[in-house]
Amino acid sequence: MSLHVIDHPLVQHKLALLREYGISTKSFRELVSEIGTLLTYEATKDLPLQANLIKGWQGDSIEVNKLQGKKITVVPILRAGLGMMDGVMELIPSAKVSVVGLQRNEETLEPVPYFEKLVGKIEQRLSLVIDPMLATGGSMIATIDMLKSAGCTHIKAIVLVAAPEGVKATLEAHPDIEIYTAALDSHLNEHGYIVPGLGDAGDKIFGTV
Ligand code: PRP
Ligand code: URA
Repeated sequence: MSLHVIDHPLVQHKLALLREYGISTKSFRELVSEIGTLLTYEATKDLPLQANLIKGWQGDSIEVNKLQGKKITVVPILRAGLGMMDGVMELIPSAKVSVVGLQRNEETLEPVPYFEKLVGKIEQRLSLVIDPMLATGGSMIATIDMLKSAGCTHIKAIVLVAAPEGVKATLEAHPDIEIYTAALDSHLNEHGYIVPGLGDAGDKIFGTV
């Protein structure tokens, strides 16, 4: 399945708090990061393990499973994706970070790229693209285009809230990727905002409302 809606009670509770009218910048930031951690746990469920022999607590050799060492790059989409970074990195602290800057033109809703700094050997890595909002899908599709142009073949998207329009567009453009979200909301309004959504996630994270 390419779309995973994570209906874990902790995720749903935190998302409910995040949707509250008048939420403080501090609470919004904390919750975005915490949900980022929980979604990362789900998105990394199928990372490959390999058997290793170690010396156990009694001094004898025991077999344990460790991550195969699959290289991961976390890809925050500026700005709002940065809000999820700490929470995501908490579970995968050695992941390298590739930064993509896109600003959605609020009239045309087209993403305008302004920054791209991807890590090396991206063709060997799993990319975890993080952004709180998947609205029209334009920003996500443009980011995946960049990653694929650089040679990356294994890509997952982690978003807090997705609109059906954005999910459809993203999976039509890139059927090989997987999307993890805390919610699949109702629709986009006439300004391209997700309903019920969260409002402008970047403004709320950075306090620029
Ligand atoms: C928001 C959001 C996504 C994008 C989603 O960013 O964080 O990146 O819009 O919309 P889309 O699916 O229609 O492309 P925005 O461009 O507002 O920039 P910001 O993060 O700097 O606020
Ligand atoms: N960007 C946001 O921050 N919120 C939306 O609802 C859509 C795009």
